[in-house]
Amino acid sequence: MNKGFPEGFMWGGAIAANQAEGAWNVDGKGLSVADIATYKPKVDVKDYATHMSINLETVEKAAADKSDDIYPKRRGIDFYHRYKEDLALFAEMGFKTLRVSIAWSRIFPTGEELEPNEKGLQFYEDLFTEMKRMNIEPIVTLSHYEMPLSLSLKYNGWVDRRVVDDFVRFSKVCFKRFKNLVKYWLTFNEVDSIHRHPFTTAGILVDQCAPGKAEQETYQALHHQFVASAMVTKDCHEIIEGSQVGCMITKLTTYPRTCHPTDVELTLKKNLENNFYADVHVFGEYPKLILRDLELRGIELHFEDGDLEVMKNHTVDFVSFSYYMSLTESHDENAERTPGNTILGVKNPYLEATDWGWQIDPQGLKISLLELYDRYNVPLMIVENGMGAKDELVDGEIHDPYRIAYFESHFKAMKDAINEGVDLIAYTSWGAIDIVSASTSQMSKRYGFIYVDADDEGNGTYDRIKKDSFYWYKDIIETNGSQL
Ligand code: BG6
Repeated sequence: MNKGFPEGFMWGGAIAANQAEGAWNVDGKGLSVADIATYKPKVDVKDYATHMSINLETVEKAAADKSDDIYPKRRGIDFYHRYKEDLALFAEMGFKTLRVSIAWSRIFPTGEELEPNEKGLQFYEDLFTEMKRMNIEPIVTLSHYEMPLSLSLKYNGWVDRRVVDDFVRFSKVCFKRFKNLVKYWLTFNEVDSIHRHPFTTAGILVDQCAPGKAEQETYQALHHQFVASAMVTKDCHEIIEGSQVGCMITKLTTYPRTCHPTDVELTLKKNLENNFYADVHVFGEYPKLILRDLELRGIELHFEDGDLEVMKNHTVDFVSFSYYMSLTESHDENAERTPGNTILGVKNPYLEATDWGWQIDPQGLKISLLELYDRYNVPLMIVENGMGAKDELVDGEIHDPYRIAYFESHFKAMKDAINEGVDLIAYTSWGAIDIVSASTSQMSKRYGFIYVDADDEGNGTYDRIKKDSFYWYKDIIETNGSQL
């Protein structure tokens, strides 16, 4: 009595507004933090933090530049104008769901207006209406690396408590306007990533933090996001009957490099840290060991009256996460390192890696599912998973057996976990159609089942071409993974 994928399992794909829509200055949209991200083909992922670091001077220079030459996210894949064509392709693959995000700066260009921009709202209403028409259930992220730039410049992003009110106002407008179209909501994409790239995640310019206080202020900003997440969960439940709200974390499952007790302890701490963010969203409070750790590091959080109550009373309905690779930890400073998703880990000798060095580990996905379900006991959604690869267009076709192999092994791992009791309700592959990479702003780092004819410089027809994996995934969805 093997259990397969449950009936009604939500198969689909995921994209984010800032990596797909383009149209960065159209219909009243304001600048977002993503619009000033430059093309970084030679990003040294081994030194990610330095490479991504950005200061006020570079931001102001980018904001004044009105071209899209070195800012590929300003172009995206022109989803803003081509979404109907793209949805039709997703529907052809049989998608039951599509995860998208709402660009905050389309609705509130500076983040502080009291009235929303109608054209921005209309775009998303049209998008969600078209999705409903095609029987594709939207899963919508409210904040996916695209806050209004103005809030970053004026308040240093989420460091300032006032941003909580701006976000709550934005979210409420979305809930009211889309209440008949969207049931599933995610608050902050990879909320844990605030420490890895504070500007992208929370609009924090480290050079604008008080001297020596960048870490303290980043934790304060994170606290503001936790509070905001709870507040909008409350609003969503009140405004949209039957709505479901989830948190979203980067699942960075880490293994000890050896059974040396120090490796095991370091690994345990890595995993506890990685779970901290979902812990807060599900249990509604800070884990005691994390609070003590902050104390030991001299980090003091400021809680306002009511913060702890709102966090306790408005927890999430499900946990969603991204999973790309696993990591390994070692006490040996000379152990060989390898990059992962905006993070560096110790190389695992048992695993192969993608062209970008991310270690391919389907069993790690199964382990993550078992661990998360055991810990939280709420439904799970995998809302990002996939491999970035260089695809070659040959005679108008893309043969991508490597991508099929990646997905097949990960789907098998999901099936195993479901069989062993995990309540997994949705799977949305990352970059279901090729989009601009978050970390490097490359088009040539492709994740999609659908190829987009555009290069890193923005040259190309932007035509959509089905890859071999398109047909393979269509078949998987049609048969609900039964042949895996
Ligand atoms: C996740 C982000 O961390 O990883 C996505 O939520 C991102 O926005 C994805 O695109 C893959 O990373 P990258 O850098 O290869 O695009």
